[in-house]
This record gives sequence, C-alpha cells and structure tokens, in this order.
Amino acid sequence: MKEKLSKLKNQVKSNLAKAKSLDEVEQVRTKYIGRKGVINEIIKTIPSLPPEQRSTIGKLANELKQEISRWIGETRKKIVAEESVPDAKETFDLSLPGKHKPYGHEHPITQTINEIKEIFSKLGFDVEYGPEVELEYYNFDALNIPADHPSREDFDTFYLLARSAGGDNQLLLRSQTSTVQIRVMKEKKPPIRMIAPGKVFRPDTVDARHASMFHQIEGLMVDEGVSFSDLKYVLTLFAKSYFGQNIKMRFRPSFFPFTEPSAEVDISCSICKGKGCSVCAYSGWVEVLGAGMVDPNVFEAVDYDTEKYTGFAFGLGVERLAMLRYGVDDIRLFLENDMRFLSQF
Ligand code: PHE
Repeated sequence: MKEKLSKLKNQVKSNLAKAKSLDEVEQVRTKYIGRKGVINEIIKTIPSLPPEQRSTIGKLANELKQEISRWIGETRKKIVAEESVPDAKETFDLSLPGKHKPYGHEHPITQTINEIKEIFSKLGFDVEYGPEVELEYYNFDALNIPADHPSREDFDTFYLLARSAGGDNQLLLRSQTSTVQIRVMKEKKPPIRMIAPGKVFRPDTVDARHASMFHQIEGLMVDEGVSFSDLKYVLTLFAKSYFGQNIKMRFRPSFFPFTEPSAEVDISCSICKGKGCSVCAYSGWVEVLGAGMVDPNVFEAVDYDTEKYTGFAFGLGVERLAMLRYGVDDIRLFLENDMRFLSQF
C-alpha cells in the first residue's frame, strides 16, 4: 500500500507538470483528491487493512492529499502568471514603422554663451559662477548702490520676502551678474581676469525686448595699470569676433554706481540694418552692454588697495546678442520652447 501511495505521488507530480491550463489542473484535482478521487477510494479501504497498518496508511494518505492540494495551488498560480505575459511572437510586428526620436541640441542661448566663453578664454579670462538667489549685500551694497537707489525698489527687484519683513541683508533673485565680481574679488587677489555667465531676474513688463528672466555675462579685469583703453580694446575685439569685422559699435557715456567712468555700448542693429525696427526701438542701435572702470568704493568693499589696482568691468545681455546675430525680433521666442523655432539653431 505504501508503494502504491508513492507511485501515486509521482503520477500526480508528472501530470501537474504537463498541465497547460487551469482546466487541466482541475482534471488532475478531481481525479486524485476529488470526493470520488483516487485518494478517497484508498482511505475507504483502510478499515479492511490489517489493524497494525491502518494508522500509518491513514496518515500517509492524508499527508499526500494535503501535499497534492498545495501543488495544485502552486501550478494554478504559475499558469495565471504565464497567461498574463503576452507572447512575444504574437505582439512584435516587424512591419510597423519605428518611433522617430529626434536628436536634441543645445539651446541657442547656451550656444551663444559657449561661443562668448570661447572668445574670452582666448584672451585669458576664466569662467566663474555665482548664485541666482543672492543677498542684498552682493547685489547692491558692495556694488556701491546706495540704500535709496531706485533699482532697489520692489518694482525693479524680486525680493524673496516682503522688504519690510526682512532685515537689511535680504534674499533676492539677483538682478545683475555684477554680484559675481564681489564674490570673486572677496576670494582672490589680483590679477583677475574673469567672465561670469548666468541668469538674472527683473520684474520688467514683458515685451519684444524684455523678459523677467534673461542671461548676462559679466566681465572683470583687475590688475596694476588697467585702463579704459584696455576695456575698449577687449570689447572691440569681442564684438568683431562675435559679429564680424564690419560691425559698428558705439560707446555712450553713462552711469553705474559701481563703475566710474561708465559707458553703455551699442551695436548697429543687424535686423533692420540701421533703418529702425522694434528690436532697436527704431533707433538703428541696440544697447548690448554696460561697462566702465571699477569704482574705488567697490575695491574698498573687497579690501583691495585702491592706490595699487585699477580694473574694468562689463555686463552684456546674452539674449540681445543672440537676437542681433540671428535676426530674432522677439526675446520671448527664446523662452517658449517652441521646437519650430529652436530647431533652426
Ligand atoms: N550690471 C549692469 C546691468 O545689469 C551692467 C554693468 C556691468 C555695467 C558691469 C557696468 C559694469 O545693467
């Protein structure tokens, strides 16, 4: 009888291994452990066995029943799991066209910044970076911008807290990359030759020439004997490298609290060729940068010897340069992520 049971065990195992569907598993179940199944028939014969065998056979038969029931559960689970995985041969249609994934490329503003970095690196300028969330101190005080200067008003600067709520060194979104001048000069001693590209933020009314976020590249050179003619030389060289030898440039006297003397630099409008359009506000010229000789008060803020060192600084608007170079007449196009526009660069 024991032998019969162990034969049964192997039979059930091999039957379950062959079962391909839940129906087949069910057939195995009824055949072996169903009410009229093989195991129950055996159990019915137990009373007619010799008394010393009854309990052993009874125990073995019940154990086998339980074991079979467990195997059946496992086989069912396996079949359900296999059925839910689609058959690769059926779902893979070789004749379908592939999905087109276009190559990405750098944004035109990133391209412009990289190109400008390259021009200045040939002149020995390092690249530096500063934070976009700044302290009032770096954006204004250290740059000799007095507490009552109009650019410190809420209208011209994004403060991170209401002005009345903070102390006198509040957090703000930097409105110029000139902040990096201070950060670099506090870290390093002259000679300094650096540019600092990055985002700046101003609550301007958005139009074809203004956005509330744009990019600037700051420049700073400090050493003994740096003069305004060095500034003019470097900027002219830059403009000619970027726009070509025929570019027209003009320096207008201007004012910045952190440079003295100061100048604003215009480039002839390449969009309308000087005839007048919305980009140049019908003047034929586009202002692309501010510049000047570093004010001694700024050197004092960073503990530089004002008797020994002089320097020049400039800040140029990246979007403006890109617009002139590529003939783009609306700054907003750079920010809209329209692939029809971006893919042209
Ligand atoms: N920071 C000035 C601006 O944003 C530009 C500038 C930089 C002017 C450096 C002079 C020197 O308008």
